Amino acid sequence: MRAFTWISLISALNLALAAPTCKAKGKTSTAAAPAPTSSGTSSSGSGSGSGSTTPSNSTGGSNGTVALAWFAGYHADVFPISNISWNKYTAMNYFVAVTAADGSVTLESSDQTLLPQFVQAAHSNNVKAILTVGGWTGSQYFSSDFATDSNRTAAAQTMMKLVQQYSLDGLDFDWEYPNAAGIGCNVQSTQDPQNFLSFLQELRKQPGADNLTLSAATGVTPWAGVTDLSGFASVLDYIEIMNYDVYGPGWSSVVGPNSPLNDTCMPSNATQAGSAVSAVAAWSQAGFPANQIVLGVPSYGHGWSVSVQDATGAASASDASALVAYPSFNKGQAAPGDKWAGAAGTDVCGNATPAGGTYEFWGLVDNGFLNGNGTVAQGKLYRYDECTQTPYVYDPTSQVMVAYDDATSFAAKGAYIKSAGLKGFALYETGGDYNDILLDAITGAVGSS
Ligand SMILES: *[C@@H]1O[C@H](CO)[C@@H](O)[C@H](O)[C@H]1NC(C)=O
Ligand SMILES: *[C@@H]1O[C@H](CO)[C@@H](O)[C@H](O)[C@H]1NC(C)=O
Ligand SMILES: *[C@@H]1O[C@H](CO)[C@@H](O)[C@H](O)[C@H]1NC(C)=O
Ligand SMILES: *[C@@H]1O[C@H](CO)[C@@H](O)[C@H](O)[C@H]1NC(C)=O
Ligand SMILES: *[C@@H]1O[C@H](CO)[C@@H](O)[C@H](O)[C@H]1NC(C)=O
Ligand SMILES: *[C@@H]1O[C@H](CO)[C@@H](O)[C@H](O)[C@H]1NC(C)=O
Ligand SMILES: *[C@@H]1O[C@H](CO)[C@@H](O)[C@H](O)[C@H]1NC(C)=O
Ligand SMILES: *[C@@H]1O[C@H](CO)[C@@H](O)[C@H](O)[C@H]1NC(C)=O
Repeated sequence: MRAFTWISLISALNLALAAPTCKAKGKTSTAAAPAPTSSGTSSSGSGSGSGSTTPSNSTGGSNGTVALAWFAGYHADVFPISNISWNKYTAMNYFVAVTAADGSVTLESSDQTLLPQFVQAAHSNNVKAILTVGGWTGSQYFSSDFATDSNRTAAAQTMMKLVQQYSLDGLDFDWEYPNAAGIGCNVQSTQDPQNFLSFLQELRKQPGADNLTLSAATGVTPWAGVTDLSGFASVLDYIEIMNYDVYGPGWSSVVGPNSPLNDTCMPSNATQAGSAVSAVAAWSQAGFPANQIVLGVPSYGHGWSVSVQDATGAASASDASALVAYPSFNKGQAAPGDKWAGAAGTDVCGNATPAGGTYEFWGLVDNGFLNGNGTVAQGKLYRYDECTQTPYVYDPTSQVMVAYDDATSFAAKGAYIKSAGLKGFALYETGGDYNDILLDAITGAVGSS
């Protein structure tokens, strides 16, 4: 028996809200605001391409489903725009523009070069080109930018200038999170959710905004202090629920799933820290309909340092045969992670941050956990958790366990999207997959293309 620290549901939810997302491990922005132009040459947007194999319906796939991913500008050196499997998507979110204290939205200079190429490639493939604003490190000033009527009008005009300058088909607001400190130093107010709604309504009223795709990336629980979300449902096309980072070495007491499909079936010694099932229930109960919910799914997993004894119950690696559920881990020791895992550093708040310890799906292949076809490599131990529908892989030699997602778990998530009548999936991030193993699994199960 080992000691197990119980966490109450309330504090577990707070932990989930505080969990950093890997959507933010890129660089922080120092670039000046892009110069607004008045040229405003609007693109023809989706639906006007010809000869494309992509779904040609402006609402999404052939039956309105959304097949979406985030494309991280800061990974374009390794995963360039030309590597995007455009014909498997209906929309792509460019990540990321960040908020600034003066109300502007800033893009790194490299993004100012890449974004037009991204939009052009999306449009030539009949895919919606959307810009994400915010992210874990970029949400500092949403609260002040949306604080007053005049601030919201200015912000809406700023957004429309971006739309015109870059011929965008939509905007994705990744505010992590309204009425919460987020990374730690976000401007914060109890009025945030209401001000966010008022801003979105103001944005929708701008000339040319009625046909924009507007979305918000959210946590697994509704924004703090909001009980009725129906107003958001009438102004947003959809939300993407970021069902990842639910368990992680920086905020959990035992090893657990990064992206659980379900949690109501968890053993009583595990903390229900959120899941696709619980998130959809929570958002629906608060008035946000399931058919406007896109399920955010991760291309990466979290690595944990776990002794052979904790991982398997065996005294030595040679006796290890199976993995136990929810084992303890070495809290002081980070897993190395793959080439994209963030190094230790200092965040936008000036606080020290530990190394990321994450593995993209390709990173699991790269580091010998998985074979190139996505199956578990020889000498590694595997456990598939039936409740959460998520896999674990363990290397007894390096003593690293990774809670990740594979083709099986992505097919389960896709089947759930279909059975629950959700609007589709959103992959963070498109460059994290390996030969589209994850993408093809979820697309096949959703049946959207
Ligand atoms: C697009 O999808 C919507 C919703 O499923 C449907 O009503 C509409 O007929 C479709 N339009 C085209 C051009 O396929
Ligand atoms: C990008 O595409 C090229 C050509 O298909 C391929 O050789 C390369 O491995 C891809 N890179 C990544 C990171 O997927
Ligand atoms: C918000 O509006 C106030 C005045 O109402 C102004 O002082 C402040 O600079 C504005 N903030 C931003 C970020 O635009
Ligand atoms: C929205 O409508 C305007 C005017 O008809 C058009 O120019 C623009 O391309 C459309 N945008 C999208 C994203 O469909
Ligand atoms: C989640 O688990 C509950 C049992 O706790 C079960 O009734 C339900 O069907 C599960 N949902 C999914 C989508 O697996
Ligand atoms: C938690 O409970 C499950 C199911 O009863 C069990 O298999 C597992 O070993 C327990 N984990 C710990 C850390 O006690
Ligand atoms: C996957 O790759 C491994 C290693 O090359 C091989 O042994 C296995 O048969 C392959 N599995 C499938 C289903 O192709
Ligand atoms: C979309 O259409 C496909 C093919 O007809 C179908 O299998 C799938 O269930 C539909 N998806 C949704 C979410 O309705």
